[in-house]
Amino acid sequence: MNTIGSELRLTLFGASHGPCVGAVLDGVPPGMIVDVGRLQSEVDLRRPKADIGTPRQEEDKVEIVSGIVEGRSTGGPITLLVMNRDTDSKKYERFKDVPRPGHADLTARSKYSECVDLRGGGQFSGRMTVGIVAAGAIAKMLLEERGIRVAAFVRQIGKVRDAEERDVTSGVLSRSNDVRAATDEMAEAMRSEILAAKDESDSVGGVVECVVDGLPIGLGEPFFDTVEGEMSKMMFAVPGVKGIEFGAGFAAAGMRGSQHNDPFVLVDGKVRTAKNDAGGILGGITNGMPVVFRVAIKPTASIARGQRSLNVKSGRQTDLKIEGRHDPCIAPRAVPVVEAAAALVLADLSMRGGTVD
Ligand SMILES: Cc1cc2nc3c(=O)[nH]c(=O)nc-3n(C[C@H](O)[C@H](O)[C@H](O)COP(=O)(O)O)c2cc1C
Repeated sequence: MNTIGSELRLTLFGASHGPCVGAVLDGVPPGMIVDVGRLQSEVDLRRPKADIGTPRQEEDKVEIVSGIVEGRSTGGPITLLVMNRDTDSKKYERFKDVPRPGHADLTARSKYSECVDLRGGGQFSGRMTVGIVAAGAIAKMLLEERGIRVAAFVRQIGKVRDAEERDVTSGVLSRSNDVRAATDEMAEAMRSEILAAKDESDSVGGVVECVVDGLPIGLGEPFFDTVEGEMSKMMFAVPGVKGIEFGAGFAAAGMRGSQHNDPFVLVDGKVRTAKNDAGGILGGITNGMPVVFRVAIKPTASIARGQRSLNVKSGRQTDLKIEGRHDPCIAPRAVPVVEAAAALVLADLSMRGGTVD
C-alpha cells in the first residue's frame, strides 16, 4: 500500500526518474495556518550536502496543488508536488538483469514483472521520501500548535558513536552541520568516517535518534495500534531502515527490573518519571515523558566498488560496477525524513485519541 495513517492519511506518488514525486495528505483540519516557507525549508534539509551526499542535484521546490489557500488549510486533501529534473536513467538499465546486491532490484522485478520502473530505484528510491518530509512539515506545525516538538539527529556513523545524553534541542542544534550530528565536534568525526568509506568506493551505515517532547499522557491505541507499533511501521517505510529501538531498547534485555523501571515523580503538579528508559511509552501509550527512539540505517547498497552479482537471465555469476550517483551514507539525509515520519504518526494518533479537534 502507498497510504498510511488513520485520521491523518499520507499517500506517496511518483518515482525517482518519472516526471515528479510527491504526497497527498488527507485529514488536516480546515483553517490551520500552514507556513509554506517553513515547509520548503524542511524539504531543503533533505537535499544532499556537498561531498557527503549524492551529486544528483534536484531543486526540490514544492508546489502546493490543492488543500492550502492563502496560507490556510481548506480541509481538503493537500497535494504536494516536486518535479524531477536531474535524471540520468541509462545507468539503471542493467539492474533488471543484474540486480544490485542490497537494493530492491531483484525483489521489485520479481514481484512486478519486467514492467517495473527501476530507473533511479523507481518507487524504492530514497527520492520518494521528499513527499514524507513535505507532508511531515505540516504534521509538525499541527503538533507545534499543541506544544509538541519533534527533532532528530545522527547518533552514530559507522564506528563513531555519540555517547552523550541528548534531548530535543540536540536535534534542533544539528541543523547547523551537514552531518546532522548533535555537536560540530561529533560532526567532524562522523564526516571523516563518511569520507573514509567514500574514498574506498564504499558506503557506511548509521543511527538516527529522534526525540519528541511536550506530548500528553494518552496517545496510542492498544492493542495493535500502539505508539511503538505505529511508529515502527512508518519507520520501516523509510528506505534503508533496518532496526528500531525505544528508550533503553535492546539494552533493556541485559538489565534488572530495579534498574530499568522509571520511578514516578511529581513535576510541577504533573506525573513524570525520574529517568526515561521506557522511551516515553508504557503499555503502548505515551506517558508524558519524551518519546525517544533510534533507527538503524544500513550502509548504502549502491557502492562504486566492484561487486559480484548474478545475471538472473543467464544464471551466470557476473561482475557489477555501479556508476549511478549515490549517497555514501544515508543517515544525514534520513534525519529530516525520520522527524517528518514521526510527526505524521503522532499527529495521526493525536487526532485518533481526541487531543486534536
Ligand atoms: C534519503 C535517502 C537516500 C538514499 N539514497 C540512496 C542511494 O543514493 N543509493 C542507494 O543505493 N540507496 C539509497 N537509499 C536507500 C535505498 O532506497 C534502499 O536501500 C532500497 O530501496 C532498498 O530498501 P531497503 O534498504 O529498505 O531494503 C536512500 C534512502 C534514503 C532514505
